[in-house]
Amino acid sequence: MNAFEWKDMFNIGHQELDNDHRKYFDLLNECYMSSCAPGSAKANADLLRRVKSYAAMHFSYEEEVLRASGYPDYERHEKLHRSFEEHLAELENVNEITGEHKYESMFSFLLEWFQKHILEEDRKCIPYLKKSVGT
Ligand SMILES: [Fe+2]
Repeated sequence: MNAFEWKDMFNIGHQELDNDHRKYFDLLNECYMSSCAPGSAKANADLLRRVKSYAAMHFSYEEEVLRASGYPDYERHEKLHRSFEEHLAELENVNEITGEHKYESMFSFLLEWFQKHILEEDRKCIPYLKKSVGT
């Protein structure tokens, strides 16, 4: 699997959120590069722990920005964040039980969910982010 490369289409025009999104992908790249034994229970647990803590911090900030922007589909957007977090918790359980959950498939999920979410959901907020103060 190749390292993720940022492309302009991931920008949503809000500097802090764009920086946050970049950091998420940097974190995934870093985990992928530093995992000496991908597929081990420890590599899986480390990846999940770091993504979980980063996602909690990022979602909380993004939700604050979206609420302030008056984005009309806010509740649905918030639910998508919660369902990602629930999925992380499920992956953690699988990992604890077997320790064999495939690192690559877990990594692909973490990468693909976030890419899709930015392109299909976060980008819908652009007109509202432009209107809000501080962007
Ligand atoms: Fe989002």
